[in-house]
Amino acid sequence: MHKLNPEEIRKDFPIFKQRIQDNRLVYLDNGATTQKPMQVINAINNYNQNSHGNPHRGAHQLSIRATEEYDLAKEKVRKFINARYIEEIIFTRNTTESINLIAYSCGKKLINKGDEIVLAISEHHSNILPWQRLVKENGGILKYIYLNEEGRISPEEIKRKITDRTKIVSIAHMSNVLGTIHPIEEIIDHAHKMGSIVVIDGAQSTPHMKIDIQKLDADLFVFSGHKMLGPMGIGVLYGKKEILEDMPPFLMGGDMIEYVYEQEATFAPLPYKFEAGTQNVEGAVGLGAAIDYLEKIGLDRIENHEKMLTEYALDRMLSLPYVSIQGPKDLEMRGGLISFTIDDIHPHDIATILDSYGVAIRAGHHCAQPLMRYLDVPATSRISFYLYNTKEDVDLFVEGIKNVRKWLGYGS
Ligand code: ALA
Repeated sequence: MHKLNPEEIRKDFPIFKQRIQDNRLVYLDNGATTQKPMQVINAINNYNQNSHGNPHRGAHQLSIRATEEYDLAKEKVRKFINARYIEEIIFTRNTTESINLIAYSCGKKLINKGDEIVLAISEHHSNILPWQRLVKENGGILKYIYLNEEGRISPEEIKRKITDRTKIVSIAHMSNVLGTIHPIEEIIDHAHKMGSIVVIDGAQSTPHMKIDIQKLDADLFVFSGHKMLGPMGIGVLYGKKEILEDMPPFLMGGDMIEYVYEQEATFAPLPYKFEAGTQNVEGAVGLGAAIDYLEKIGLDRIENHEKMLTEYALDRMLSLPYVSIQGPKDLEMRGGLISFTIDDIHPHDIATILDSYGVAIRAGHHCAQPLMRYLDVPATSRISFYLYNTKEDVDLFVEGIKNVRKWLGYGS
């Protein structure tokens, strides 16, 4: 497998043509959102200039074209994650909406008093709050899988927490704070033996590694377009057909019905029953173009490139005595995202000072307050890579953190 060339790839991304206060833009906040190549921007423009109409509703050419574009994008998503049927792909707004849909629809159906839902302590708020609301309403119990000192989930903890009382396990594939890639194959296998269904939050993993949903055997799997070169406002909910068929609709409205009477209604088949209202066709088209772009480069090459950058960054960061890294040091256990602290400097100060050097990173609780409490840190700083990052980006970032300490009077 030949290595990808990030400098060549950067040429496709107009945002990297700009300079930030005369510095190269070092964009290391890909866990939050990613930048768009011209191929995605052009696909969205092209759709708006030539094919925009309300899909599934009109007999006219533009409505037909919009429907075709929407369905084509869905087929690209199906193929991208190797789902069996196109009906198993539902477009939502984002990962958050996908999980809310599942908790509302599947959760309400499955969870009764005393039934357990198992999450990991490292979950993003979007994979905690929908379940909290559900258990408050339905009398279920939320249980958490805890992590060891390296930020990993042990086989013993999986068996301790997922039992025959568990009805739903909902867990992120990759932690947005620690970068840990959780052992979801083991979790799915054990949960199925216990009779539980499994929801995987793939927001941080799907953009960076090949997902084969049939091999994984997750029952429901969710991710967002804007973290994989696509636009904001388009997300995906994959579900096994038999599970989705059994789930009641979440949002009610146009295009998700079969017949509507004064007092009742019947619903459209999959996937339409979960896509009420006018669909985000330009979002779908943009996501389809992003998938084309990623597949042309190759997910395996992207994953390798990020591993190389992560190894390089970890080496450089760990050589600085004042930097502490959260999460596993073993590259096999983590993706291209590193959370860190420097002395007792507040992460927001680190991010603000780095910004003045053109280095964009994220700081804060990363929408994971229970994890922050568990780790006993108020906040962390975080860098996260993608296919267009380079070793030079890492070098500029490391120079930047040395400057942060100088600025704040910590010496060199
Ligand atoms: N969930 C996104 C992040 O972790 C916003 O940055």
